Amino acid sequence: MRIAVLGATGRTGRAFLTALSAGHEIVAYARRPDAVVRSDGVHVVGGELDDLEAMTAALTGCDAVVVTLGVKVMRPTAPVLRTAMPTVIAACRAAGVRRVIVLSALGAGETLAAARLPYRLIVRTALIAPFRDHVAGESLLVGSGLDWTTIHPGLLGDGPATADPLVVDAGAAGAMPGWPHTERADVAAVMLRVMDDSATFGRRLLVLSAPQAS
Ligand SMILES: NC(=O)c1ccc[n+]([C@@H]2O[C@H](COP(=O)([O-])OP(=O)(O)OC[C@H]3O[C@@H](n4cnc5c(N)ncnc54)[C@H](OP(=O)(O)O)[C@@H]3O)[C@@H](O)[C@H]2O)c1
Repeated sequence: MRIAVLGATGRTGRAFLTALSAGHEIVAYARRPDAVVRSDGVHVVGGELDDLEAMTAALTGCDAVVVTLGVKVMRPTAPVLRTAMPTVIAACRAAGVRRVIVLSALGAGETLAAARLPYRLIVRTALIAPFRDHVAGESLLVGSGLDWTTIHPGLLGDGPATADPLVVDAGAAGAMPGWPHTERADVAAVMLRVMDDSATFGRRLLVLSAPQAS
């Protein structure tokens, strides 16, 4: 598949580049094209999140879009998902791309029901602004007609992929651990795994890493 990635210069976006080893091609659409890690199978297109013409050109010929955008929690900036998602949806329609997978967070929107203390407290305080941005942007996917899935990890880490991460539909999820943890490598692996899975279209998936054997 040819997969467009928004956020390829970030940590989860870089983790998703492992899709190359599965034979996929990546189109990295980035505001800082020079910061994209170059390798065979990576095509870099520069552009801003609200540039419909540039994003449509990047998405043309792609089979799917993966969004791994995010703001720095301690350095809040303008809303990112709320800015990006109208353009992503319009660019998908213009380019004929149906499949969209978006990195969100456990505790954003309806997935708050699965969050427990102490994580729930952080969601309601320190993370409230970025999580509002997630909800505002991702809610546009509902009714977009696209085959979307949102991925909701716990606190992200940069360890290796775990053998069997927990993947559960938010609508069927019980309470998650009070300190939920997800490796970015597991987020990337699950995104790739559900890429073709129509059962995940229109779903919000909680993803937690399996504890490593010691
Ligand atoms: N940290 C956690 O524990 C945690 C837990 C659950 C969910 N999440 C979610 O995961 C996401 C963060 O993932 P991450 O840690 O992989 O992020 P990251 O390393 O901080 O990367 C963020 C990406 O977003 C891009 N970006 C940010 N603002 C942009 C803008 N205005 N225009 C264009 N690109 C922009 C960055 O581009 P540049 O390189 O150009 O800056 C970068 O590629 C967030 O949505 C967050 O809510 C985080």
